[in-house]
Amino acid sequence: MKILVLHGPNLNLLGKREPAVYGTITLEEINANIAALAKELNVEVECFQSNHEGILVDKLHQAMGAFDAVIINPGAYTHYSIALRDAVSAVKLPVIEVHLSNIYAREEFRHRSVIAPVAVGQISGFGMQGYLLALRAAVQLLQANGGLT
Ligand code: DQA
Repeated sequence: MKILVLHGPNLNLLGKREPAVYGTITLEEINANIAALAKELNVEVECFQSNHEGILVDKLHQAMGAFDAVIINPGAYTHYSIALRDAVSAVKLPVIEVHLSNIYAREEFRHRSVIAPVAVGQISGFGMQGYLLALRAAVQLLQANGGLT
């Protein structure tokens, strides 16, 4: 079972970026926690970050046939990237959307996700734990569906 974790724009700055909103944990620490849980659950995980919409779209396309599920924090693209939404729809893989912060408790422009309607589900507001919850959810979903690998 292989799961791709995609981090969108500005998430490379975690630790330094708005710590009051996102905490002080770095992306490297988040990825290390994801890798540790993946080992425990006996699944393969690849983590990838990009600040570029097209690169995230390419990565989703490449996930077809190579991964069984995707966990994505699309960052600000959540709120307006139809290209990313179409890619999520197109790849026909189960996609779980994650946000560190509770996007519904923040500015109104963050309340709308164009990704959520084409995702299996969304986890928002639990910080780094959101990724771990998403990983557990993805594994359970794939086991229930009889995943590809
Ligand atoms: C975010 C929420 C988005 O609104 C924001 O643009 C981000 C991070 C989160 O993880 O809380 O970059 O996706």
